[in-house]
Amino acid sequence: MTVRHFLDLDRLDTATVRRILDLGAAYKAGGQPHGKVRPLEGRILAMIFEKPSTRTRVSFEAGMKQLGGDVIALSRTDTQLGRGETVADTARVLSRYVDAIMIRTDDPQKLDDLSAYATVPVINGLTDISHPCQVMADILTYEEHRGPLAGKVVTWSGDGNNVAASWIQAAAHFGFEMRVACPPTLCPTESVVAWARDRGGNVVIAHDPAAAVAGADLVLTDTWVSMGCADTDRPRLLAPFQVNAALMAKAKPDALFMHCLPAHRGEEVTDEVMDGPQSVVWDEAENRLHVQKGILTWCLL
Ligand code: CP
Ligand code: NVA
Repeated sequence: MTVRHFLDLDRLDTATVRRILDLGAAYKAGGQPHGKVRPLEGRILAMIFEKPSTRTRVSFEAGMKQLGGDVIALSRTDTQLGRGETVADTARVLSRYVDAIMIRTDDPQKLDDLSAYATVPVINGLTDISHPCQVMADILTYEEHRGPLAGKVVTWSGDGNNVAASWIQAAAHFGFEMRVACPPTLCPTESVVAWARDRGGNVVIAHDPAAAVAGADLVLTDTWVSMGCADTDRPRLLAPFQVNAALMAKAKPDALFMHCLPAHRGEEVTDEVMDGPQSVVWDEAENRLHVQKGILTWCLL
């Protein structure tokens, strides 16, 4: 049987992405979409964290345990990866012990190597170029508040980073208009935009946040300085893209605000937006748990 990896939204067909979201929603509703209370009984997930994490770590661990399984969390210094053992050899060895591997890393090549050599499912827990688990939770959050994303306008204001890239890929699956307002030097890569457009995704890259937010159904942002990113010019470049009350006022009156978190209040987003009536950031964070269950069971069952 083919091993089911959850690597990126550009490597999954729309029906599969939909299936995983539906599984997540079913688990959130208290259902047993696989007909068992503990469908992952006896299964073990190894989690490799080469960068810090609160939500990803805890939601995968809680989700796996709620499904009857268990986890082993490994930091950079816990394994021989930190001393030069190859990702390929690590993949071969971990596959003999555990049933699935999640990795959070800087280099997307490590994710590819892991999935190439592992004989168990590999899950992308964030790389420098994408964060698909996050965007799955974001989509679930939008759908439960406002219904399908098709035909909606989603605006990202800020760094054209890993989370933005997964949102652009999602536009090719779900038929919404994806506007990214970013500084010219911090745009999403041409390849991610081209991939989405080639598949009919409506992706607009712009540099005026007010114009990009006009009429939006959903406004998103993220930190000015992602993990491992040392560019000290970012605050100056990204300050005009801050999501504040004035910017939110340009979106539709019932527009939602989301942020993958951790937020840097007063930088990319103000308190009044984070804590305001349009913010669904805590539901979004909660939905990481439910979506991880969808991902884990899709990979393993
Ligand atoms: N949003 C997110 O992935 O958060 P963590 O870095 O805390 O896992
Ligand atoms: N863009 C952020 C996301 C954190 C969840 C980062 O990579 O640090």
